[in-house]
Amino acid sequence: MPYGRQSLDDADVQAVVEVLKSDWLTTGPKIGEFEERFAAWVGARHAVSFSSGTAALHGAAFAAGLGPGDEAITTPMTFCATANCILYQGATPVFADVSPDTLNIDPQEVSQKITSRTKAIIAVDYAGHPAALDELGELAKAQGQGALLIEDACHALGAEFRGKRVGGIADMTVFSFHPVKHLTTGEGGMVATNDARLAETLRRFRNHGISSEARERRESGQWFYEMVLLGFNYRLTDIACALGLSQLDKLAANLARRREIAAQYAEAFRDLPAIVVPAVRDGVNPAWHLYPVRLKLEMLAVGRGEIFRALRAENIGVNVHYIPVHQHPYYRERFTLKESYPVAEDAYERLISLPMFHSMTAQDVEDVIHAVRKVVSCFDRKYQGKYEGKGERSHSLETGQSK
Ligand SMILES: Cc1ncc(COP(=O)(O)O)c(C=O)c1O
Repeated sequence: MPYGRQSLDDADVQAVVEVLKSDWLTTGPKIGEFEERFAAWVGARHAVSFSSGTAALHGAAFAAGLGPGDEAITTPMTFCATANCILYQGATPVFADVSPDTLNIDPQEVSQKITSRTKAIIAVDYAGHPAALDELGELAKAQGQGALLIEDACHALGAEFRGKRVGGIADMTVFSFHPVKHLTTGEGGMVATNDARLAETLRRFRNHGISSEARERRESGQWFYEMVLLGFNYRLTDIACALGLSQLDKLAANLARRREIAAQYAEAFRDLPAIVVPAVRDGVNPAWHLYPVRLKLEMLAVGRGEIFRALRAENIGVNVHYIPVHQHPYYRERFTLKESYPVAEDAYERLISLPMFHSMTAQDVEDVIHAVRKVVSCFDRKYQGKYEGKGERSHSLETGQSK
């Protein structure tokens, strides 16, 4: 069983086939249609599509005006793309440690890292739990010279913060449509914003820095266009947007299913003291892209690696999110990051992501719960040799190998 996967139905296939038979494979009408419906769904005035979440992050970093000499504060507990977008712009990433409960960037830590060079705070809604958007927004505003809050919501499509969906809260909110996400276009991404000027910059940036779109020109009979900034070809195709539109129809149901699975996991692991399930803060409704549990290693006879391998041996496709960004060789070698980020580093030693995708069947969920209970109980110092789970004990304490 994988930790995440897409689900596509006949309507998705049909939507793509229709575009394949049409005049516009790219720069056509499906793009605006998808952007408009997406913006409405997340509650933002504008949405600008990109060829990936990474490209969307690059667009947001550009639109925030990041450049050489500027700093952007971000979290080490994320996929490297979040911090890489700062480097693409020649600016300097500054890491701030995460809060121990949510593993989202800690506003207290951010406040200590803000300088006159800070141009952006890039928060991540880790696993789908919104970051502390109100405090971070205040910090960005208080910076004085116009720092922006960019929310990397690649995990959090559909997550709610104080009753509002993420997308219209931060200055720019970035989404990913990779197949393990809530909605897929194969590859794809989006930036949502309420700011018309940011939206215009984002549109140009994803289209070579050109000031008008191909279809608009053709429809108005114009040949003239101007390149006004150095952009890229980061366009999302009409093929992908048609798939996105069709997937949007199923998003609410997918979210509901993920929330159901998360509730089942939380209930099932309540009496397993060696497992810490993800925290949910008041006023927040997470979107559950991931379900990362933390191991209380002090209670276990083996390390995370053995638990991970034992679960894989049970055919449970566990994963680890994330190796803290500052620990990757590229970052270690280029930045003399003398500081440590103890909360993120400690969490990394303990994290295991359990399968979480909307097409998981009731049996899949049961299988994961059973395997986790079996493996963790088996290695729990207190329960060693006293496991009373369903099925026989099948792991060697010495090797962590499945028999
Ligand atoms: C937090 C985060 N940010 C950015 C990205 C990049 O998105 P994409 O894979 O669509 O480029 C990912 C991808 O998984 C992610 O998890």
